[in-house]
Amino acid sequence: MAATGSAVGLGNIWGFPTQTANNGGAAFVLMYVAFVCVLAYPALMAELVIGRHTRRNMVNALPSVAAKPLVKSIGSFAGLCGVIVSSLILAFYAIVAGWMMANILSSPASALGLPAYSSWLADFSVSRNLIFCLLFSILTASVVANGVRDGIERWSTRLMPTLILLIILLTSYVLTQEGAVRGLKVYLLPDFTHIFSPQLLISAMGQAFFSLSLGVGTMLIYGSYIREDENLPLVGALVAMADTGVALLAGLLIIPAMFVALAQGVQIYDINNALIAGPGLILQVLPLLFNSLGLAGMAIAVIFFSLMVIAALTSSISMLEVPVAFASEHFQLSRSKATWITGAIIFANSACIVFYFDFLFDAVVDITTKYSQPLLAAVLCIFAGWVLHRDRLLNEIRSGYNNVEFSWFWKIWPVYIRFVCPLLIIVLFIQSILTRLTA
Ligand code: PHE
Repeated sequence: MAATGSAVGLGNIWGFPTQTANNGGAAFVLMYVAFVCVLAYPALMAELVIGRHTRRNMVNALPSVAAKPLVKSIGSFAGLCGVIVSSLILAFYAIVAGWMMANILSSPASALGLPAYSSWLADFSVSRNLIFCLLFSILTASVVANGVRDGIERWSTRLMPTLILLIILLTSYVLTQEGAVRGLKVYLLPDFTHIFSPQLLISAMGQAFFSLSLGVGTMLIYGSYIREDENLPLVGALVAMADTGVALLAGLLIIPAMFVALAQGVQIYDINNALIAGPGLILQVLPLLFNSLGLAGMAIAVIFFSLMVIAALTSSISMLEVPVAFASEHFQLSRSKATWITGAIIFANSACIVFYFDFLFDAVVDITTKYSQPLLAAVLCIFAGWVLHRDRLLNEIRSGYNNVEFSWFWKIWPVYIRFVCPLLIIVLFIQSILTRLTA
């Protein structure tokens, strides 16, 4: 439940449709699904197994499985990188979650006859971004500081089916509108000439790791909470399927909705004939959709954005957990002190991003999600595959999954995390750097 709460968040409903539009549609969707199966699921398993085996956080877990001093140091270093990357992800994530919070209030404000206030809430501005980012950060920190995470997670898993139902209903409505079929084609019929473009591949890989919360130690911590009698490959598969399902569904809503907007005269292509897909994409498309539904649309907007904020919250608390666990153990701080101090440092980063948005936002998103998460996930695969090694891996997975040694999972996965995952990640990484340099 907690791991699904961490995985399902803005990455699915904001990140995935935006990236899909950015990378031309169905070719991206196809490669994203492929990467979830061949890279992200095996990497998720590596994190869960290391977490349950060591019952520690990433900074302490990796050195604890190694014997040689050099490998121990590499482990601690990777763990520290995880702490930093997780904090940086939270720094931009809280800004986007703040946009969702502001949008909850925007339509009620216009219904109450406060148009200036309503457009301040809906439009991009430093003041709005900063205030709502601060509110969301305080919300996240108070949940983590007061240790009420369990309650929030239980609450949110009950509410998530409502969000999914709402997306399904909105999708059915959108698909009846003029222009939707064109959007559906863009979303579902891949242009095979684009499939192996290095930028598409690295974006699809990064999105898969981001959406499953990998590489930064979140899933490792959740692995450390899992009981001995739980079947890890099954838990991992359920989390990956739920997460991918929600992303695909959100794409099915947003991409056709963009084309419905086009049919209504909204510009969605730029001068190069590429889809316009900045970070604000869903906030341009969804309000149009809600407005076309009249009064009911206002209620739907409030419910939709509230559910988005809850989904974002279960992800953001899992991100904050990583630096908080580290700070409270290493500096012997109380949990609440550790939370407010790390929270304040992260908010200071968010504020810098808000002030230099055009310059920093995309850069921080790219550095953390496209490059750092996959590379750190490769290190985790190497630790699981080469350092933990077969016997310890087998023993760990066997608890909760009898006879795993005769399963397909055991035939494929160990080879995968030893060779395929690290090599593929590194090749894609180098290829993307080279194309950037030559572009
Ligand atoms: N997976 C989360 C989402 O899709 C984001 C996340 C990334 C959470 C890294 C934790 C760690 O919104």
